Amino acid sequence: MKAFVTGHRGYIGTHLVDVLKQEGHHVTGCDLGLFDGCNWAPMPKPDKELNKDVRGITPADLKGYDCVMHLAAISNDPMGNINAQLTFDINRDASIRIAKLAKAAGVPRFLFAGSCSVYGQGTKLDLDESDPLNPLTAYAQSKIETETAVSPLADDNFSPAFLRNSTAYGYSPMLRIDLVVNNLLGSALAYGEIRIQSDGSPWRPLIHCRDIARAFVAFARAPKAAIHNKAVNIGGNSENYQVRQVGDQVQRLIPSAKVTYTGEVGADPRNYRVKFDYLYSLLPDFKLQYNLVSGMEELHRKMVDYGFSKKDFEGDQFVRLRTLKKHLNLIQPTAA
Ligand SMILES: NC(=O)c1ccc[n+]([C@@H]2O[C@H](COP(=O)([O-])OP(=O)(O)OC[C@H]3O[C@@H](n4cnc5c(N)ncnc54)[C@H](O)[C@@H]3O)[C@@H](O)[C@H]2O)c1
Repeated sequence: MKAFVTGHRGYIGTHLVDVLKQEGHHVTGCDLGLFDGCNWAPMPKPDKELNKDVRGITPADLKGYDCVMHLAAISNDPMGNINAQLTFDINRDASIRIAKLAKAAGVPRFLFAGSCSVYGQGTKLDLDESDPLNPLTAYAQSKIETETAVSPLADDNFSPAFLRNSTAYGYSPMLRIDLVVNNLLGSALAYGEIRIQSDGSPWRPLIHCRDIARAFVAFARAPKAAIHNKAVNIGGNSENYQVRQVGDQVQRLIPSAKVTYTGEVGADPRNYRVKFDYLYSLLPDFKLQYNLVSGMEELHRKMVDYGFSKKDFEGDQFVRLRTLKKHLNLIQPTAA
């Protein structure tokens, strides 16, 4: 397979390049490199690399590929709050344009990195793909609006699919610690405190970042009928956790760390427990490689080996928003 991967230098994208290469596929990556230099381990290399803004992708760029895997995005709720226009510009408008270009270029499959955050403030537990969407942020809204605009492009020769990913965690060469699991582990190592910003009650579906990459590859290889124009939750039924349970798991790994509730976000309205039966009915052979215990143990080992400290927790390297703010000049919204 010839795969065109956007956002291939990000947290999930680095795994995707690696998984694709290990399976012998040809990979072209396209990334602006917003976090270049933030990696803490060597990055896997695609066969070909376009160092450009995805908003500047041309029809010629996409010719000859079997699948576009579109991950590049401002993948951050707080950034969406600071500059919603930028989030819509990159996450929604550029995504719709790339899907149209892919279709025009004859690429048969377009896989979109969506998010379970589209369920937002869940009106009930165990949400599935037929439940109402309730986005609470520009980020989540941008993901829904992309699904809505790209879905009608589906036809006999073009199969989009929307992977509504759980919240990622775990080791990646391009680590980020602004995601709940990694953040709690990082705060335990940095301060000896597991700093929970809410009251710990919200539910989140969690998935190792490498399992998201593996899901993309499974969607690329699946029979067309299984994935054609489907929006699918990506994760596992047993991998829904309340934030306080994540804290308990961190404490198991670092018994000296104390759980503290900082109350920074008050009662967090983002609360969703999600079902994944549809995924396993469509792709019965797909299995997660990690669960929270094994994924967290792996990341803990890597962080200890690295000597992860307060300096790392408070610095820019592993926190998307802090690095993005320094690169805003590179990604200003395009003129309407
Ligand atoms: N991390 C999660 O928990 C999670 C959960 C659900 C969905 N997702 C989605 O998965 C995708 C990847 O997430 P991630 O955690 O790897 O994010 P990330 O921030 O680590 O990586 C995003 C990559 O996209 C690139 N990028 C951003 N804007 C670009 C532009 N205009 N042109 C070219 N490149 C650009 C960045 O340089 C970066 O390398 C995103 O679409 C995100 O919304 C992530």
